[in-house]
Amino acid sequence: MDSPLAANSIVLSVNGIDYKLQLEARVSLLDALRENLGLTGTKKGCNQGACGACTVLVDGERINSCFALAIQYEGRKITTIEGLPDADGLHPLQKAFIEQDGFQCGYCTPGQLCSAVAMMNEFQSGWPSAVTEKMADRNIEFSDAEIKERMSGNLCRCGAYVGITDAIRQVYEELSK
Ligand code: FES
Ligand code: FES
Repeated sequence: MDSPLAANSIVLSVNGIDYKLQLEARVSLLDALRENLGLTGTKKGCNQGACGACTVLVDGERINSCFALAIQYEGRKITTIEGLPDADGLHPLQKAFIEQDGFQCGYCTPGQLCSAVAMMNEFQSGWPSAVTEKMADRNIEFSDAEIKERMSGNLCRCGAYVGITDAIRQVYEELSK
């Protein structure tokens, strides 16, 4: 059996760019992004799957990158906070976070933003949450209770939750017009 310390040659696709890397099997996706690729927008909070600061998108779905081994994500489309803006500038959620004061220190913000992007897609796809009363109802109201429950994996130590909720609701309502 190969040693887990042996370097593996892999290609990670991050924000539309393919990166060739030599990584030990034990390296987390979070460490690969930050230490090997210099993409330090993704933050390391707890490093144990409890805070959401390390949230990134993989094929459009949110994951905690501290809980993921980098070598498992070869061939997947990874998006970090650095990849959210496009040619027109900041992502609408980034603008809304600024307008609504959805952060203070900003440490949790990249994870909040990536999580919110995926969360809105989940909601639009009809995925229920723990507070959805009628699981079979495809017309779930995008209420504050739904936003808070669906974002509950992303902690903000300075308590910017009101602004975060307002920003997400603002963007969702704009997208739904
Ligand atoms: S750093 Fe990954 S969940 Fe906290
Ligand atoms: S803005 Fe400070 S931890 Fe979230």
